[in-house]
Amino acid sequence: MLLGRTTLSKFLIEQLRGTEDQADLAALLVDVTAAIKTIASMTAKGALGGYLGSLGTENVQGETQKKLDVLSNDAVIQSCEWGGLVAGMASEELDEPYQLPRAFERGAYLLVFDPLDGSSNIDVNVSVGTIFSVLRFGRLGEPTVTDFLRPGVEQVAAGYAIYGPSTMMVLTVGKGTHGFTLDREIGNFILTHPDLRIAEDTGEFAINASNERFWEPPVQRYVAECKAGRTGDRGRDFNMRWIASMVADVHRILMRGGIFMYPKDTKEPAKPGRLRLLYEANPIAFVVEQAGGVASTGRGRILDLQPESLHQRVPVMLGARHEIERLERYHREYDSGSDKPFASPLFKDRSLYSAEGRA
Ligand code: F6P
Ligand code: MN
Repeated sequence: MLLGRTTLSKFLIEQLRGTEDQADLAALLVDVTAAIKTIASMTAKGALGGYLGSLGTENVQGETQKKLDVLSNDAVIQSCEWGGLVAGMASEELDEPYQLPRAFERGAYLLVFDPLDGSSNIDVNVSVGTIFSVLRFGRLGEPTVTDFLRPGVEQVAAGYAIYGPSTMMVLTVGKGTHGFTLDREIGNFILTHPDLRIAEDTGEFAINASNERFWEPPVQRYVAECKAGRTGDRGRDFNMRWIASMVADVHRILMRGGIFMYPKDTKEPAKPGRLRLLYEANPIAFVVEQAGGVASTGRGRILDLQPESLHQRVPVMLGARHEIERLERYHREYDSGSDKPFASPLFKDRSLYSAEGRA
């Protein structure tokens, strides 16, 4: 059935009709979509397009840049810089905000993005994604770094694309979270997953378990209880998944539930978490909250954080409401000292949490 479908542009025009963002935000998101189609085409061609491999350069995070990281970054910039819709852009791949060429008109928005998330997966043909966040730029002149340091609650739109067996785009403009699938023959994103909801309960969690010894005790406690399964305090079995691409892990959670954690760890003590606040945690948190999920650092709502720097990192725990609330409680109990016995080497021999911890 090719007739009667809702394209992304039609959907956005309808969602934004009557709001102050009605014309320009839809147009900007359509420009972002153009970049996503280009990236989808490059990731799909893989080795045939000569796109695989590293460039031998590093980004500001000290991560090796892949060819596709840089090409994807260029795709977003080229699609969005010319239209008079953005005043500035910031990216995981750029140390400083991108300066728009003088020739282009300035617009009312700031675009922040991770052009290719999970890029260690590129060369092995596993799902990767693009994450984006749109903020308002409420003044004249050129944006500085400070203009980008806005809390996530101020985002006017956010979302991601996943380049998997099919390419999908999932986004929110603050009226629910909706999924679109790319019809490659026609070149349009079609609304296929309206009003996505994350179930409040789950039996599935995602975490890089090789970091277990570096986690804080409340996260160790939570995961230990999940792993103990039906013989432990939770009284039921849990399943674990880890794709090493946040977009792909979060997408699974939006499709069938679960939680995702990249907590703070002591592996690299200078870094309070792995994921970046402005272009990873905030946009994904907005999408997750709009789908009824919770997105937390373990000690508070991600969207309320006041960013301090462009590439700031944060602990991330998100997904099923009841499980994230449980993790927040474990952090509170740890911080107040009321779970001290768990930190003791004796805890394994004692059933300390059975009274209130059973699911
Ligand atoms: O962008 C950071 C990222 O690639 C995420 O997409 C992913 O969840 C995580 O890092 C993978 O981390 P690790 O290498 O520890 O598995
Ligand atoms: Mn990333």
